[in-house]
Amino acid sequence: MNYILVVDDEEDIRDIYEMVLRRAFPLDVVLAASGNEALKILEERGKPQLIISDLRMPDGDGLFLRQSLLDKNYEIPFIICSTDPVHVLKRKFPGIHGYVEKPKIVGPIVELVDSVVSRYEVPPSYVPVRISFLLRLGTVHFDLYMKISESKYVKMINADEVFVQSDAERFYGKGLKHLYVLAEDADHYLTSIEKNLSALSDEEKADSSTMAVISLESIESVERLSRSLGWKEGVVEAAKNTVNLAIKVASTEPNILKLFKYKLNDAHSKYSQHVGLLALLNCGFCHQLGWISDSAQMKMGLAAIMHDITVDESVYENIELWNEAAYNSTDKSPEVLKYRNHPAEAVNLLLGIKNVPSDVDQIILQHHELKDGRGFPRGLVSSRISPYATLFIIVEDLINFLGDSHDFDVTIDLFIRHRDERYNSGNFKKVFEVLKENVAKSRAKDGRY
Ligand SMILES: [Fe+2]
Ligand SMILES: [Fe+2]
Repeated sequence: MNYILVVDDEEDIRDIYEMVLRRAFPLDVVLAASGNEALKILEERGKPQLIISDLRMPDGDGLFLRQSLLDKNYEIPFIICSTDPVHVLKRKFPGIHGYVEKPKIVGPIVELVDSVVSRYEVPPSYVPVRISFLLRLGTVHFDLYMKISESKYVKMINADEVFVQSDAERFYGKGLKHLYVLAEDADHYLTSIEKNLSALSDEEKADSSTMAVISLESIESVERLSRSLGWKEGVVEAAKNTVNLAIKVASTEPNILKLFKYKLNDAHSKYSQHVGLLALLNCGFCHQLGWISDSAQMKMGLAAIMHDITVDESVYENIELWNEAAYNSTDKSPEVLKYRNHPAEAVNLLLGIKNVPSDVDQIILQHHELKDGRGFPRGLVSSRISPYATLFIIVEDLINFLGDSHDFDVTIDLFIRHRDERYNSGNFKKVFEVLKENVAKSRAKDGRY
């Protein structure tokens, strides 16, 4: 009886509910992905104090769940939460406890639950967050703690460190499902996530007539490359979807759309190939790292299609030479100075796009930084480079390294050997390890090692 039941087919949304509810109420929160799963939980655990349900779900939607409860004569306060407007929800669900219109859920949910369940008298200092959720986020901007006892928490992961599968397994191995964050960090996070959710739902509404200007189909090498990198099936497909969505979001700004059309009109140009490949590999690597939340991939996709938007096509004829010239801080020739400034120029253009998720500007600004502080424009040391940017930098380095090579297996193996030392610490190391593991697994499967 002492629990709140949350029913939603989207994992990210369930995890956000859990965080919101556990922050405010001293009750267990149980999650279900469908109406049928919810009914099973009801049978096993008895009636919850409250049900929060999505409307559209496969395997038993919100209407089905509500009707099943009425048929069983269960009187349980019921809150429906959907992207449909409230007046539509009121018609579909007369007489229930409350209606919430997505994506603005955090505030309204707490208020509605508040009238059924009493809040903590003394709010907790730490809030539990599901480990699977942290894994999908890939990186969090606050410290993560492990609960030792009711009053004792120990810091396990620092803010801005990447969170990968091996981290998750370490905690699962201890029988844990949650880590903890400081309550004020949870509040900050919930405010920011709500902004990202709004951005995502606006994207869906974005004019679908805006054309996808990069012809992803033309990048034939991607499928083959993904096999050499040891990716699972379906990863490329998922990455393509995200990249297309990112292009759509960026194209809502007319100036950017114009630039895309001008710069990416030839799908076979070096520039188009670079940007397209980078966008796909970035999103694919997110998958491989277990960062499968829409927002993480959207950030990487957007950063990829925008990062070099002001760079001249001719630069791509010899990108490595340009990079070396720009790393050399004594080179003050006007064309090198301009090239050194392209990350900042891209960020300026980004400001014109509505609802860009946080972090994208940082990824773009840092995409030419190097682990040893020789990079540009800022010459940051590795601890100051954001986790997403770390992934971006390694992927772009790999693409430049591959160059015109056709034997991907050999070149990727060479890349791993050459770069082992460069990427042997901090966030770089974690990302690079995943790349190495993937490749090793794929080679073992092919029976070559
Ligand atoms: Fe680039
Ligand atoms: Fe660049």
